[in-house]
Amino acid sequence: MKALQWLGDRLRLIDQTRLPHKLVYVDCRDYRQVVSAIMQMKVRGAPAIGVAAAYGIALGALKIKAKDKAEFDSQLEKVFATFATSRPTAVNLFHAINRMRQAALKASSVSQAKQALLDEAKQVQADEETATLRLSQLGVGLIKDGAIVLTHCNAGPLATAGYGTALGIIRAAVAAGKKVEVIAAETRPLLQGARLTAWELMQEGIAVTLITDSMAGHFMKQGEIHCVIVGADRIVANGDTANKIGTYALAVLAKEHGIPFYVAAPTSTIDLSIASGDAIPIEERDPTEVTHFAGFRIAPKGIAVANPAFDITPHRYITAIITENGIAQEPFDQNLKRLLAPKEV
Ligand code: MRU
Repeated sequence: MKALQWLGDRLRLIDQTRLPHKLVYVDCRDYRQVVSAIMQMKVRGAPAIGVAAAYGIALGALKIKAKDKAEFDSQLEKVFATFATSRPTAVNLFHAINRMRQAALKASSVSQAKQALLDEAKQVQADEETATLRLSQLGVGLIKDGAIVLTHCNAGPLATAGYGTALGIIRAAVAAGKKVEVIAAETRPLLQGARLTAWELMQEGIAVTLITDSMAGHFMKQGEIHCVIVGADRIVANGDTANKIGTYALAVLAKEHGIPFYVAAPTSTIDLSIASGDAIPIEERDPTEVTHFAGFRIAPKGIAVANPAFDITPHRYITAIITENGIAQEPFDQNLKRLLAPKEV
């Protein structure tokens, strides 16, 4: 089961909105289908959004009919711009767009550029696969044998087109022979925890208990949660982290109860161009995600609704950030920079 597969002339993705009831694949032959899939969250999770966008850009490029490279480049910019408006918070999307732009610029002809874009999209996917596996293995040391781990949203293979981030560490710990139990927060309003995390962990035979988001404090107080691990959509220079709405509340609760709070993410989720979390763009989604449940209205017509898809956890609540290049702790501003520095040969 692969969240995203390139099939020679099309991108096949699992429609995550249909899970866990139905495993439905969607074949995208046009870049606009990929943009819609990202906006509708058929494909979601920061690394998976980046990989899908890279293939989507390649699809768009393959269909461009241009008389010369300059015309090709200018049409390709329109494809980049369309993807850039799809979801604003996950920085993996923007890193993927930049990688694709660089690949196209290096090519000297239209046909070379088309090949280079396809190769680069495959490389974006391969890099996420390698990074998520590596960070998962690095994170195993943080999980004690017998641990009960709380996670929020979904940060597994579906979200990463790889091994997973938060769930990757849990999977790797179990694979290393540790006994680990997971508490999955349902993650209102779109229920990625209840639908996707629960499904992925049950498929793997990893013990998982589903709770509503508001139960987390209760279980922390009872001593029934030993650590929290979440993924991230954007980690900025000082370590402040955007992740699914509700993450901040969990981090504050974890600190109050003396529980370690870990963020797991590939370096493609790090954005050193932003100094602090205040400047991270937060996606505001459709009010019907809050007023309706499975298509059924649950709130009175006309009610005012706020629906930010993400919140920012200030770095002071984060015990460590686990990446494929290593594990960063405070001072995050120095240590994240070190993790991203080019390696000396
Ligand atoms: O709105 P979503 O479902 O795309 O949000 C996903 C998350 O917040 C994940 O925790 C994050 O992208 C990390 S995925 C490894």
